[in-house]
Amino acid sequence: MTKLLYVKASPRPESRSVAVADAYLAALKARVSGLSIDVLALWDEDLPDFDGDRANAKLAVITGQEQSAIQKTKWDGIIAIVERFKAADVYLFAVPMWNGGVPYRLKQYIDIIHQPGHLWGLDPATGYFGLLKNKKAVLAYTSGAFGPDAPSPAFGTDHHSTYLRSWLNEAGVTDVTEIRYQPTLLDPDSEAAFARAKTQAAALAA
Ligand SMILES: Cc1cc2nc3c(=O)[nH]c(=O)nc-3n(C[C@H](O)[C@H](O)[C@H](O)COP(=O)(O)O)c2cc1C
Repeated sequence: MTKLLYVKASPRPESRSVAVADAYLAALKARVSGLSIDVLALWDEDLPDFDGDRANAKLAVITGQEQSAIQKTKWDGIIAIVERFKAADVYLFAVPMWNGGVPYRLKQYIDIIHQPGHLWGLDPATGYFGLLKNKKAVLAYTSGAFGPDAPSPAFGTDHHSTYLRSWLNEAGVTDVTEIRYQPTLLDPDSEAAFARAKTQAAALAA
C-alpha cells in the first residue's frame, strides 16, 4: 500500500495551491488503488513550539550528550511527529509563497521534523547526508506577483521553491516534482493559468 502525506501550508479555505494539489490527488486516487492518505493541515495541527528545551534536546543528540528529563519528554513528542512524516512514501505539499519564502507554519513544521538520525546525518568530512530513502515529493506552488518568468528581484526572489528543494534533498528526497501556478494575481488571464495548473497536476498523477 502506498502512503501519501498531504501537507497543506495555506490557511485559506479557498487556497489555490491546495486546489492544484487536490487535482493531483484526485487523479492519483483514480489511478492507485489502496492509496492511504494522511492529511496534515498545518493551521489545524497543534504544532509544539521549538523552544529552548527542544533546541537543547536536539543539540544533545548531535553532540552525544544526555538529555534532561524535561528535554527527553519534549523530544519524545517531537519524534512522534517525525515518525508520522517518515511513515509516508509520497509527500504532497501545497505551498503559497509568503514574503519570498514559505509560510511560517511550514517552516515550524520543518524545524520540528528535520532531526538528526531520522532525516539526516552529518559526516565531518563530507557534510550532511539524507536518511530518507525511496520517497517522492510533489509540490504545488503559488505566488501572487513572483513568477519564474518575472524579473527578479523586482517581483521578488524565490526563497520558496529553492528552500523546499534543498531541504528535501538534504533529507534524502531527490525525486521532486514541482507544479507552478505563478503568478496568481498579476497574470491577466489568471483563471486560464489556474485551469492549466490543475490539468498539469492531474496529468502528472496519471
Ligand atoms: C502573508 C502573505 C504573504 C505573501 N507574500 C508574497 C510574496 O512574497 N510574493 C508573492 O508573489 N506573493 C505573495 N503573497 C501572495 C500569495 O502567494 C498568493 O496570493 C497565493 O496565490 C496564495 O496561495 P493560496 O491561494 O494557496 O493561499 C503573499 C500572500 C500572503 C497572504
